[in-house]
Amino acid sequence: AQVTISHGNARVTAALPTGESVVVLLHGATVISWKDASGDEKLWLSEAAHLDGSKAVRGGIPLVFPVFGAGSNGEKTKDLPQHGFARNARWEFLGKSTSEGDSANVVKLDFGLSSESLADEYQKAWPYRFGLLYSVTLTRESLTTTIVITNDGDEPFEFQTLLHTYFRVKDISQVSIDGFDGAPYIDQLANRAAKTHAGAITFDGELDSIYTPAGGPKQEVTLSEGGRRRVRLVRDNLEDVVVWNPHVAKAAGMADFAPKDGWRNMVCIEAGSVRGWQRLDKGDAFEGAQTIHL
Ligand code: BG6
Repeated sequence: AQVTISHGNARVTAALPTGESVVVLLHGATVISWKDASGDEKLWLSEAAHLDGSKAVRGGIPLVFPVFGAGSNGEKTKDLPQHGFARNARWEFLGKSTSEGDSANVVKLDFGLSSESLADEYQKAWPYRFGLLYSVTLTRESLTTTIVITNDGDEPFEFQTLLHTYFRVKDISQVSIDGFDGAPYIDQLANRAAKTHAGAITFDGELDSIYTPAGGPKQEVTLSEGGRRRVRLVRDNLEDVVVWNPHVAKAAGMADFAPKDGWRNMVCIEAGSVRGWQRLDKGDAFEGAQTIHL
């Protein structure tokens, strides 16, 4: 038995012989499905998500680059769309690799995007030369997504990046997220007030905050439901974690969010570097990653 790959015009699907699978849209290199061996879906994807490239995907794992949110870097980011252009650009599938000696239990898919292949409007809005290499690695018990950003031009640039994972849950009121005790955070619903979190994160309304876990990028984040641990998120070189649930009103206001009570079945836990700005000088590279363990 072998890893199977199908590469259509719009998406790449990979499956392990044991049944685990992942689907990545070339639009945004957005992971839109990740299933375990029993076919259980781990990611939330809106029923009204646009998968035809006309809009960023509502669900799965959109990739945020080079700016998080509306941007706060003055002139340099003012013309960029919310969360940047990477999730709105068509990426190239660069191929798959399996690991020697373990070829039935792991598959890695590589995707690329560079400034040259970017739509004119985005090149104008962000006139730097860069390369992005995004790898999605599926194993029997985990999914890893890795972003490598290179500065291929002469000018230094500043960026933010984030892996905007929408986790599927059964009931948000039963969810608790650990790893944030003592974490400083920015409350995006309270005028970006700076606060400090204590204990686990639970949900009784809208939540939209940027945490910087006190244990640093190596601090694990765990998602539990009904007291049972569901997933464990391990970061590499990504110091911030955004946690977001839109609740009733925000969900109602998003045309591509369906069903309207879908906020009960999702939570975004987003590993990234978004509180400040990463600077890349000519020829330099930045690498950040997350591994989600079942
Ligand atoms: C989160 C932000 O990362 O993304 C939220 O913290 C935002 O403020 C959410 O609402 C969704 O953003 P978008 O652009 O996909 O609607």
